[in-house]
Amino acid sequence: MSNDLHLGLEGIAVAETRLSHIDGETGTLLIGGYPVEELANEATYEESVYLLLHGHAPTASELEDFRETLATHRELTDEVHALLRAAAAADLPAMDALRMGVAAANLGVDLDGPHAEACRVIACFPTIVAAYWRYRQGEDPVAPRGDLRHAANYLYMLTGEKPTDAAVRGLETYLNTVVDHGLNASTFSARVVVSTESDLVSAATAAVGTLKGPLHGGAPGPVLEMLREVHASGDPEQYVREALDAGERLMGFGHRVYRVRDPRAAVLETAAERFFEAGGDAAFFETARRFEDVATELLAEDKPDRRLETNVEFYTAMLLDGVGVPKELFTVTFAVSRVGGWLAHALEQRADNRLIRPISRYVGDERRLWPPLDER
Ligand code: COA
Repeated sequence: MSNDLHLGLEGIAVAETRLSHIDGETGTLLIGGYPVEELANEATYEESVYLLLHGHAPTASELEDFRETLATHRELTDEVHALLRAAAAADLPAMDALRMGVAAANLGVDLDGPHAEACRVIACFPTIVAAYWRYRQGEDPVAPRGDLRHAANYLYMLTGEKPTDAAVRGLETYLNTVVDHGLNASTFSARVVVSTESDLVSAATAAVGTLKGPLHGGAPGPVLEMLREVHASGDPEQYVREALDAGERLMGFGHRVYRVRDPRAAVLETAAERFFEAGGDAAFFETARRFEDVATELLAEDKPDRRLETNVEFYTAMLLDGVGVPKELFTVTFAVSRVGGWLAHALEQRADNRLIRPISRYVGDERRLWPPLDER
């Protein structure tokens, strides 16, 4: 057995998957075999998730059935509502509320097998987030509407108003873009949980906990604050120079796998541009673009050996803000999408399982003698 150390498991393949493929050198992302650019703009979220769960794009009748299944699983039980009310009253962050809501999501719900369990969990993510947010605002939750698509219903439950087509399309493009992304940290967590023959709710709960950390899913909120500050000052160069001189990292830049611009940044930039040109704050969008140019140039000067370009989080901030998702919900909205990928990976792991159990290299003391209490 090799005792080579692979901190962070960087570059180590530990699973085979048909779900998504990343080429970090060329900046290519395939989801279910389709280029992200195509899936993001052509599919609905339900189609993307169906593709991941079943391996093919749904026919019209398969899609109809799948939509109906998701729509019937949207409602939360009273117990989950009570948890979310308590989480909001205690001022817990949205990711904590989501973790609590997911963990209890199937309590008292009859489900026939892992596939039904996956549909239930995917369907109720937006309801958990929206209910928590409404409680947080001191308002009653808005009941889900079965006639609205997944993305439209999410926006509707947040505000109580039917969203515009442009907002739905913007959000749907985002949800499709981030639905799966190789063996990222939260997806890995989900696969580890299922590899012990544990259940899908446990896998989704662990994945939410993993996504919560700022190195994974927490960057778009800070990106928005940064862009607002730069928009107010009008001087991106000064902002970047000061941040780099202070040894800070620029949020929305850099990636563990991509050595070029993250292809999802391009998809979301186009979606944000489309959205803002149709009636949003176009000047703010231009600030983001100018910031990207300036920051990319200065990062290249600062770190000539490491290409640092925009990652998915940069234009996520612009797009989600534009379509009306509050900044506090950016990371949970990422989860609303990624849960489709997590559970598809969990089912894939389950279908051809091997317990994930790496080893560690011991660097502690050799054979110490246990000291009596009065000698310590
Ligand atoms: N701004 C400035 N410098 C950055 C940077 C950023 N966003 N990202 C990486 N670097 C620098 C590091 O400081 C390091 O410099 P050093 O070698 O002089 O110490 C070098 O680039 C390599 O960084 P490393 O920590 O090895 O990269 P990683 O692969 O572990 O990190 C991220 C990947 C995403 C965690 C990292 O780029 C980051 O923190 N980005 C900002 C947060 C973010 O946008 N997260 C969302 C990810 S989708």
